[in-house]
Amino acid sequence: MEIKKVGVLGCGLMGSGIAQVAATAGFDVTILEVEQKYLDKGFAAMEKSLTKFSEKGTLKEPVDAIRSRLKGTTNKLDLADRDIIIEAIIENVEEKKMMYASIDGIVKKDAIFASNTSSISITELLTSTKRPERFVGLHFFNPVPLMKLVEVVRTIATSAEVYDAAYEFAKKLGKVPVRTSDKTGFIVNRLLVPYMLDAVRAYEDGVGSIEDIDNAMKLGCGYPMGPFTLLDFVGLDTTYYITHVMFDEFKERRFASPPLLKRLVMAGWYGRKTGKGFYDYSEPNNPKPNKL
Ligand code: CAA
Repeated sequence: MEIKKVGVLGCGLMGSGIAQVAATAGFDVTILEVEQKYLDKGFAAMEKSLTKFSEKGTLKEPVDAIRSRLKGTTNKLDLADRDIIIEAIIENVEEKKMMYASIDGIVKKDAIFASNTSSISITELLTSTKRPERFVGLHFFNPVPLMKLVEVVRTIATSAEVYDAAYEFAKKLGKVPVRTSDKTGFIVNRLLVPYMLDAVRAYEDGVGSIEDIDNAMKLGCGYPMGPFTLLDFVGLDTTYYITHVMFDEFKERRFASPPLLKRLVMAGWYGRKTGKGFYDYSEPNNPKPNKL
């Protein structure tokens, strides 16, 4: 199976990152969005990122050549000839299932369907199509152009041929794939989410301040970001959603949201994207911990 033409569903943070990486690796990419304004936003983000790489001299080709392989569309029919579809739309099971069902009859029959979901069951998603054996998870990490990992997720229905093709495709994107199975959270979030939630609980218990807990994990363990900086970076709304899916699956306290996380989400403090979370980003280069 040869993958040449890539379709990406959603041009948000993850979708635009995936599209950029695929075009940089030489693939022809079509990105589907519901409205032109979302495409414009995603294309502006890709332009900024590609310019940065170009200035650093890390691209093998001029930005123009990469840009010429990227096409945005609001018409699902433009996905018909894609060899692989990577879905990165809103993290909502019903929305995702509706999207897959709506394109299943449009996209050619032997194309692979992949989801970038971080917590929703791939097995549940594949039930919305007539190609269960051609369905995998391809879970990328934020920021996609910089993070090397892709979790390649196999379900009990995925064929060996499709799984291997998806694994090789991740390699061709310049990423390091890891093999994992369809258990909620896969490898990274199974370990990362309880760690981040424990940081919130440690703060609630008065173990240390937000800044000190962040510095402790950054400087004591060599992590690139402390847990609160990372929570604000991932998005508190996203993390809160993931806790629900994981707690529902495992019924273990370590996956349950601490009250403080819930309060921040209820207040609309989602982290960097809203300018407020565990930190205040009024001065983006000098975030200050909020008094919580
Ligand atoms: N494109 C191109 N360049 C970019 C970029 C992008 N999208 N984002 C940042 N950069 C550049 C910066 O401009 C900077 O360039 P200079 O060196 O020229 O200044 C360089 O990359 C390094 O960035 P920073 O100086 O901002 O900071 P950093 O050295 O800490 O690196 C980081 C940034 C790679 C994000 C690093 O902090 C990191 O690895 N953080 C952890 C991220 C992480 O854990 N992500 C996973 C989250 S979990 C998830 O995504 C999955 C889920 O399911 C929830």
